[in-house]
Amino acid sequence: MKKVIVANWKMNPLSQKQAKDLFNFTKKVAKNLKNVQVVICPPFLYLPLLSKLAKNSKIKLGAQNCFWEEKGAFTGEISPAMLKDLKVKYVILGHSERRKLGETDEMINKKLKTALQFKLTPILCIGEKEKEKKEGKTFEVLETQCTLALNGIFQPNLMLAYEPVWAIGTQNPCPPEIAKKVLEFLKKKFPHPPILYGGSVNVKNAISYFNVGFDGLLVGGASLSFEFGEILKMVDKIKK
Ligand code: PGA
Repeated sequence: MKKVIVANWKMNPLSQKQAKDLFNFTKKVAKNLKNVQVVICPPFLYLPLLSKLAKNSKIKLGAQNCFWEEKGAFTGEISPAMLKDLKVKYVILGHSERRKLGETDEMINKKLKTALQFKLTPILCIGEKEKEKKEGKTFEVLETQCTLALNGIFQPNLMLAYEPVWAIGTQNPCPPEIAKKVLEFLKKKFPHPPILYGGSVNVKNAISYFNVGFDGLLVGGASLSFEFGEILKMVDKIKK
């Protein structure tokens, strides 16, 4: 399987012009990649534009969220059917920045089910908070998040992203040796889905997560600059 590198642009950049430039930059780099699948998850508003630019490119598109109903009176929500219509293939669900705003495991479970029905590939984010880590509850938290999110879902076609909350956007990445222990725990419980690491990934540490066995990366801050291209090129050269 190709290594997967997902760019989570979050609420960036601030104009279509910048989104187009950033996408085209990544598209140029992606053209020469052999071993990496690049997925870009921009804000919803840029999806129509980027969907056109992604045609005949090696980049796949993802969304940063979606709703659990197909259509109807749900002001401000986005349907997985709308994403499908724009040729979006992936959807990030359960990101800690959304959980912080009130998204619960039950809501994530409903979103996962609907996304799967529409044949989107969910990227399910899980991760412990700093306090939970200090209390030695990491595995417990991850198991609970997965069990609740996957309730009633069998053999799902999805990816898991281990994103320790304390490592996101902090310049304090999870040391690969520690992430490796989490990966081993998750692989035992969930042997099938590819497992990505996310949280302050940069050009200096990107390779180390593949060295300990992760299948891919979820990159936030570093996906917004030329650094992303460097990460892609480096990872593409990994042998194995
Ligand atoms: P970061 O974000 O790379 O900026 O830490 C990762 C994420 O939130 O997915």
